[in-house]
Amino acid sequence: MAPARRCGGLEMARVVYVNGQYQPWDYARVHAEDRGFQFGDAVYEVCEVRNGHLIDETRHMDRLERSLGELGIPLPMSRGAWKRVMRETIRRNRVTDGMVYLQVSRGARPRDFIFSDAIDMMPTVVCLSRPVNRAKRDAAAQGIAVKSMPDIRWGRCDIKTVMLLASSLAKEAAKAEGGKEAWLVDEKGFVTEGASSNAWIIDKDGRLVTRPTNNEILRGVTRTTLIDLLKKEGLELVERAFTIEEAKKAREAFVTSAGAIVTPVIKIDETPVGNGAPGITASRLRELFHTVAECAAK
Ligand code: PDD
Repeated sequence: MAPARRCGGLEMARVVYVNGQYQPWDYARVHAEDRGFQFGDAVYEVCEVRNGHLIDETRHMDRLERSLGELGIPLPMSRGAWKRVMRETIRRNRVTDGMVYLQVSRGARPRDFIFSDAIDMMPTVVCLSRPVNRAKRDAAAQGIAVKSMPDIRWGRCDIKTVMLLASSLAKEAAKAEGGKEAWLVDEKGFVTEGASSNAWIIDKDGRLVTRPTNNEILRGVTRTTLIDLLKKEGLELVERAFTIEEAKKAREAFVTSAGAIVTPVIKIDETPVGNGAPGITASRLRELFHTVAECAAK
């Protein structure tokens, strides 16, 4: 078994599943003419692992199947096979708390924009798992700063594709200005979502506000599960768009994702949110989140 390594402050996977084989990280390869590599023609999922259990596995698999369906990529394996691959990847990487990443591309073939005549193309499947960086996770509970950036992504952000360059550049620009996340803003001045999370505010009357889902944002699994929690807690949800100016004046703000769970936002651009400390409601929702999320058998 390869020893655990770190790269750029991240724990690394030791073993990666690629097309039916578990390979040491250094040797894990896909083809140079994979359409995921040449066209971004691939979808992915990130699922939290907590105490060795997959969190919200069913919703993540539902969304993976939807993303594949929207792009007309055939399902590469059954749910039962996915379950086995994910659990085996977690086991081989000795992950107790961390994440599992799945990626499916349309497959490899000589480069061509047209793919419909390649009937024998097999999807490329990758699964990896790595531990969480505990220091980063604990720091996130103390709240993060976000920076607003124009949303320059494509028109199908509801599909979880690997075309993440705009998001990556936005996050990099946010980081250069001291932010941990970018809040993407549409042409009308409304926040769509974070570069890799959904965006939320809590208004003066205690209502939780987040943008309704359509083709402009990803329907986050954490967002969906949090809505279950809000119902249980009797908190009011309003699905509508909000501006950066409104968010700066909000009582609280936070982001949700499989990695961030519920992470308070304490600063937007240069303006502190509320009193500049993690909000009471966001912190409480972060603590309660796993009481409603699905916790799959190992
Ligand atoms: N990102 N919006 C975007 C654009 C995202 O990339 C993500 C997740 C979310 C939240 O989705 P979920 O709650 O299902 O994680 C919303 C993942 C974690 C990533 O790319 O690493």
